[in-house]
Amino acid sequence: MLLVLVLLALITGVAAVAAPSATAADTASADDVAAGEALFAANCASCHGLDAQGQDGVAPSLVGVGAAAVDFQVGTGRMPMQASGPQAPAKPAQFDQDQINQLAAWVASLGAGPAIPTAEQVDPSLGDAANGMEVFRTNCAMCHGSIGGGGALTQGKFAPSLLETTPTHIYEAMLTGPQSMPVFNDANITPEHKRDVIAYLDAQSAGSPGGLSLGAIGPVSEGLWAWLVLLGLIIGATVWVGARSS
Ligand code: HEC
Ligand code: HEC
Repeated sequence: MLLVLVLLALITGVAAVAAPSATAADTASADDVAAGEALFAANCASCHGLDAQGQDGVAPSLVGVGAAAVDFQVGTGRMPMQASGPQAPAKPAQFDQDQINQLAAWVASLGAGPAIPTAEQVDPSLGDAANGMEVFRTNCAMCHGSIGGGGALTQGKFAPSLLETTPTHIYEAMLTGPQSMPVFNDANITPEHKRDVIAYLDAQSAGSPGGLSLGAIGPVSEGLWAWLVLLGLIIGATVWVGARSS
């Protein structure tokens, strides 16, 4: 009986430690929010307005877009936008991750929206790449190409290559649907399936999908070994039979 109790205590203890920690947005401090407000006033308010309420014909309201949209837009260098064109392109990020988190914390404080995903939610090694390929072919390939290499759309817009995008930004793009990309909320594509898509794209950028990669030699050399061993046995048997009959 005592042993059972001890085991139970151990299991619940482990479960409590293993439970996922709070997301980035939940842990944002009041300092982060204040720092984010100051950064926003200096770098973003000229277009989005001091309260991020948006300006007609200039930039949309950011109330309720959530921390994920800010992390994606600023982290991929799309924001702050510089030249006007058919599409705000990705460019080297202008802020470091601490500053991006501060901006995100302030925007998130204006209205509820999607949070920045946790490291576990976007870890490619926890996803199923084969299922990710199915989800990608059905939902993404018509714009981004079958392996995520990118493609042109109408009116000077384009779906960029996804092979250099970080797992977190891939997740956030699905969650927030930047510009002409549709939003894939958790009812369209579950969080697990989003991670599968990340695993699929990770596999595409890691190895060449063609038939020429070095990995393809693996089974051949194994087959060769099987043949060599078999040949050795046959020769050995032949010699043995020959030696007995003489
Ligand atoms: C030159 C004007 C300009 C500046 C400066 C600018 N933005 Fe934007 N922003 C835009 C426009 C225009 C869009 C809409 C792009 C589109 O969807 O075509 C946008 C879109 C966004 C979005 C996406 C909203 C959504 O619905 O998902 C976010 C988030 C954002 N901006 C954050 C910022 C932040 C943070 C800064 C400052 C670091 C900033 N922007 C600076 C013009 C600007
Ligand atoms: C209707 C066409 C369309 C579909 C469908 C679509 N996208 Fe996109 N996607 C776009 C466009 C256009 C952009 C560029 C938006 C921008 O620059 O703000 C984009 C941007 C992205 C980015 C940002 C890439 C980077 O490095 O900057 C990611 C990641 C992404 N898409 C992933 C996906 C995934 C995953 C799916 C399927 C679940 C998907 N997209 C479905 C059109 C599409």
